[in-house]
Amino acid sequence: MDIPIRIAAIDFQVPETVITNDDLTKIIDTSDEWIRTRTGIERRHVLSGNESAVQMGILAAKKVLKKSKIDAEKLDYIIAPASVETHAYPSTACEIQAAIGAVNAACFDITAACSGLIYAMGIGRALIKSGMAKNILLVATDAVSRCLDWTDRASCVLFGDGSGAMMLTVADDGQDDILAVDLRAEGQYGDFIKMPIPGKNCPLVEPNEQENMFVKMEGKEVYKYVVTKLPVYVEECVAKSGLKMNEIDYLVPHQANMRIIEALEKRLEFNPDHVISNIQEYANTSAASIPIALTEAIQSGKIKLPATAILTGFGAGMTVGTTVVRLREGIA
Ligand code: ACO
Repeated sequence: MDIPIRIAAIDFQVPETVITNDDLTKIIDTSDEWIRTRTGIERRHVLSGNESAVQMGILAAKKVLKKSKIDAEKLDYIIAPASVETHAYPSTACEIQAAIGAVNAACFDITAACSGLIYAMGIGRALIKSGMAKNILLVATDAVSRCLDWTDRASCVLFGDGSGAMMLTVADDGQDDILAVDLRAEGQYGDFIKMPIPGKNCPLVEPNEQENMFVKMEGKEVYKYVVTKLPVYVEECVAKSGLKMNEIDYLVPHQANMRIIEALEKRLEFNPDHVISNIQEYANTSAASIPIALTEAIQSGKIKLPATAILTGFGAGMTVGTTVVRLREGIA
């Protein structure tokens, strides 16, 4: 039996502290003009003091629990696409579980960088369709600002911090909200974006070389990869959904670079008014960027519900994830 899935709620949380492009000119040789024209970014929200990606994730999670009216004890899984900078374990999902009291949930994190939310949707969909789960909370949360070399102007201007959460549940009315999912990985391009976690050899053996824990990116290579491959993968996902491109109302791409978003929009012949972007406000918040963009567009009325949408992300790995969804009224 095919079990239909409802996207029950979506929301986000960002830190209050904002850094503008002009602010960055105090620490690196850059300009508002360079950053805006090359990327579309004007400012970014960043964690300050002891704020953390986990705290943001907890706040986003609480919002979707409230909106979906699903009790935390009813959650079967919490999946966190997260690259939290402070520790590899316990998992971010376990920390969120403890904070919200999801005592019956199995919890794990996934590493798919900026494609993480779409990967989590694909896994969540499979768990519900197989009958293994009824209610799944996805929480994408990242503190990229803590993993940047703030002297490297080619990378540090591009990112911000944020969290996005989504609730998946069984659709009692039979309408399936996730029409297709397409997940890709091309590990041969792994050097394009890296974030090493340094580890030191046992003192009894030869010492190893340790890298700094900073995001390193070959921006031009990422750009070329994405504009070449992403449109093809999006078209293949749309074909799987049974809809035609011109039957889909909105395109919600990962917010990495405005020029990439515009190239995708042009190549897919999408109406620019129906392509969602808020990169100017948040920069690239990794896996949280799609849920932040989607929630904000619904809340501001830019996306009118009910609607169909393509959500598509790409990131380190390289990974690419696309899904075609139906968005119901009241989800955000
Ligand atoms: N301010 C001023 N000048 C700068 C800056 C800056 N912040 N950064 C680089 N420059 C300079 C360079 O030094 C270079 O100067 P030179 O010509 O004297 O050598 C010049 O600007 C051009 O640099 P390029 O790297 O060629 O600039 P480009 O037009 O390629 O833009 C960018 C760079 C914005 C990074 C672009 O390549 C890009 O957006 N790539 C995609 C990145 C992306 O999508 N990443 C996703 C990450 S997802 C994840 O998983 C983490």
